[in-house]
Amino acid sequence: MQATPAETAYLAVTGLVKYFGDDRAVDEVSFAVARAKLLTLLGPSGCGKTTTLMCIAGLHRFDVGEIAVGGVPYSSPARGVFVPPEKRDIGMVFQSYAIWPHMTVTENVAYPLSIRKLDPAEIAERVDAALRLVGLQEFAGKLATQLSGGQQQRAALARAIVFRPKLLLFDEPLSNLDLKLREQMRTEIKRIQREVGITSVYVTHDQAEALVMSDEIIVMSKGRIEQRGSAHDIYARPVNRYVSNFIGVANLLEGRVLRVTAPGRGEIEVSHDGRGVVVPCLLGEGIAEGDSALLCVRPENVKALPQPNGDPHIEGEITHTIFLGNCIDCRVRWGSFEWKVLAHPREMLARGDRVYLYPDPKHSRAVRP
Ligand SMILES: Nc1ncnc2c1ncn2[C@@H]1O[C@H](COP(=O)(O)OP(=O)(O)O)[C@@H](O)[C@H]1O
Ligand SMILES: [Mg+2]
Repeated sequence: MQATPAETAYLAVTGLVKYFGDDRAVDEVSFAVARAKLLTLLGPSGCGKTTTLMCIAGLHRFDVGEIAVGGVPYSSPARGVFVPPEKRDIGMVFQSYAIWPHMTVTENVAYPLSIRKLDPAEIAERVDAALRLVGLQEFAGKLATQLSGGQQQRAALARAIVFRPKLLLFDEPLSNLDLKLREQMRTEIKRIQREVGITSVYVTHDQAEALVMSDEIIVMSKGRIEQRGSAHDIYARPVNRYVSNFIGVANLLEGRVLRVTAPGRGEIEVSHDGRGVVVPCLLGEGIAEGDSALLCVRPENVKALPQPNGDPHIEGEITHTIFLGNCIDCRVRWGSFEWKVLAHPREMLARGDRVYLYPDPKHSRAVRP
C-alpha cells in the first residue's frame, strides 16, 4: 500500500451509507479531515455519529461509499476493499474507559507496543513519553482501578497515541465525567491532540465541547450532515432552524423575504400575532426574494433601547431581567413571542418597562426553515 503525497484530505469519507435493517443510520455522509486537524461530529443521540466512527475504524462494514486514509482506500464496498480493523493503525478513546483493570497503567499503555513486538527499551521510552504527555507519570505503577475517572481517560488516551496511529477517534470520551473535570479535559485533550498532531475525529452531543475543541465541526441530524464549518462559522452563520438551535441561543421568527437589496442582503418581514416588522438582514445561502424564511438573531445582536430612535423597531415589554455583570439577560414580550436579548449593563432596563428592539442588520440572517 502506498500513500499519496498530496494530502489536504488525509481522512476522506465519501458518500457513506450504512443501513441497519431498513434504517439508514448514516445517509450519504461525506467529509474530509486535513492532516493533524480535529474534526467534530456533533449531533443528538441516534444521529449516526458512532456508526460513522465505527465505519472509519472498520468495526462496521457499510453499504455504499468509500473511506480512505492518506490516499489508501480502507473500505470500499464497490471495489471490494476492506482493510481489517487491526491493520488500520487507528487509536480509539471511548466513553467507557476501556482500560484493563488487572493491569498497571504502564502495562495498559505498553500493550499496543508489546503486541507490535517493539524492543523493550523503546517501549519503556515511548510509554514514559506518553504518560508524561497526559500527566500520569506518577501513576505509572498503579492499577487502572486505582485511578479516578479522569485519570482513566488520560490512560486510555496515552494508550491510543503511544503507537503513533494514523488517526485518532474519540467517541464521547468525557460523557462520564463531572462538569468541572469535563471542562478541564476539553482543553487538555485539545492540547495533547495539537502537540502530537494526530488527525482526529471527535464525536460528541455537547455543543460547548465541540466549540472548544474543533478545527472544524459537522452538525448532524438523522444520519445526514446539516452544516459543516468552523465553530465561528456555524455560530455566526447557521443555515437553518436546526443548526441555529443546536449551537447557541437564537431568536427565530417566521417571515418572508420582501426584497433583495444587494448581493446577500435584503429585508425580511416577520409577523407575530398580527404585529409585523420589516427587518434588514443578511440572506443565507439559497434564500431569494419572496421566499418563506426564518429570521435568526442571536441575543447579543439585538439592541434594546428605552426610547425609540426613529428606525424600524420592535416594541415590547420586558418580562424578565437577570443582571450578569458584563451584560443583562432580558426577556421581552412581543405578542406571544419572547425575545431573548443580551443588553449592555449600562442600559437601565427593568421588568415591566417598554423597550424598543433593533436587530443588528449585519448580524441578523434570513435562513431556511
Ligand atoms: N448495532 C446496531 N444495530 C441496529 N441499529 C443500530 C446499531 N447501532 C446503531 N443503530 C441505530 O443507528 C442509528 C444511529 O446510531 P448511532 O450511530 O449509535 O448514533 P449516535 O452515536 O449519534 O448516538 C440509531 O437509530 C441507532 O438506533
Ligand atoms: Mg454514539
